[in-house]
Amino acid sequence: MTKPKHILLIIGGGIAAYKASELIRLIKKAGMTVRCVLTESGAQFVTPMTLAALSENEVHTTLWSLKDETEMGHIQLSREADLVVVCPATANLLAKMAGGIADDLATTLLLATDTPVMVVPAMNVRMWDHPATQRNIAQLSRDKIRIMPPEEGDMACGEYGPGRLPEPHAILEQMTHYLGEKTPTGLIGEHELGANPLAGQPAFAPDQHRPLHGKHILITAGPTREPIDPVRYIANRSSGRQGFAIAAAAAEAGAQVTLVAGPVNLPTPAGVMRIDVETALEMEAAVAQGLPCDVAIMVAAVADWRADVRAEQKIKKQQGEALAPLDLVENPDILAGLAKHEHRPALLIGFAAETQNIEENSRAKLAKKGCDWIIANDVSGDVMGGAENSVHIVTQNATEIWERLPKPEVARRIISKIIEEI
Ligand code: C5P
Repeated sequence: MTKPKHILLIIGGGIAAYKASELIRLIKKAGMTVRCVLTESGAQFVTPMTLAALSENEVHTTLWSLKDETEMGHIQLSREADLVVVCPATANLLAKMAGGIADDLATTLLLATDTPVMVVPAMNVRMWDHPATQRNIAQLSRDKIRIMPPEEGDMACGEYGPGRLPEPHAILEQMTHYLGEKTPTGLIGEHELGANPLAGQPAFAPDQHRPLHGKHILITAGPTREPIDPVRYIANRSSGRQGFAIAAAAAEAGAQVTLVAGPVNLPTPAGVMRIDVETALEMEAAVAQGLPCDVAIMVAAVADWRADVRAEQKIKKQQGEALAPLDLVENPDILAGLAKHEHRPALLIGFAAETQNIEENSRAKLAKKGCDWIIANDVSGDVMGGAENSVHIVTQNATEIWERLPKPEVARRIISKIIEEI
């Protein structure tokens, strides 16, 4: 008979901590054993007594318990488990984990363990969206921590958005998946085109409860960089933030996401398969490699031209001589190419940066490129590289004008619209 799986459950301090009780009950019902570690702030929401009664095990709360240390050292506590689950994982716990801080029992266990760790974040939507939290999540993802993204919905604090703890049965399902997991399940395997930070790491388990479960979404983001010589290039001001936010929102909604990224300084959103590229030609090849997909969202600001010849050596300034002309050739139009491709996705979305006549120009672009929607950014202000965006959604028979919103919120609304469409 196989030994029952053993879970070490670390409960952080958030209102969602109350759901840990139900999770413990489900873990036990599934035939597993569970031991709880409660952080100091977690104890403000649930009592050790409740957890001990449900888990039928002692509950650990402090590093400085002599009795616990003689009976079971904290290192052993972390290592005897088959899976360590942090639920709810607060922004503070995630930050400490990402920074390698060990200043209480929970964080010391997490640093000392060699057992797989799964975190289930839950927090206010602004805290989840905050660049610091997203940076920490990306770091944890690189550190091979399994992250179950929060759900979108009404929150205890009265706001709406991602940050809610998933239901305990869904958490148990995810835990069971990780416990049974043997090999990574990346979507399109090894890539030659660039470093994939998720390589060798399991992709998120399918979650049947998410609206985009089973859908593959291909996204391009950021600028492209077209070299002139070894030190100079043609580029543009795109930061990649809107495209990355869309990739994050699509992954949160359960899609398998391939993100083809130009040179940007952004962390990979949790659960996203990223392919880094530099030039338009590399982006075109990576997009072709990412097919087939159900939805393609081409957010990248692809350079229209590239230098016909890339000089092997740095082009020198010659005293008194006129600058040699730079011969440019047009780059392929990736979006228009995809519209004619044999694997054209069912929903093909292009972006447009406009400063005037937004609707008219976008409608012309829709026809010219052969896509289904054009999402037009009004870039007359500080949209490029900024934190907010002001968009028009132009489809075959309608135009929606959205108010100026933070880029993550624009991303979530785009994903909601896609969910309605497919
Ligand atoms: O033609 P324009 O650059 O305004 O079109 C913008 C849209 O077309 C964006 O979706 C962009 O990602 C895509 N595009 C492309 N390949 C190009 C130029 C633009 O896919 N070479």
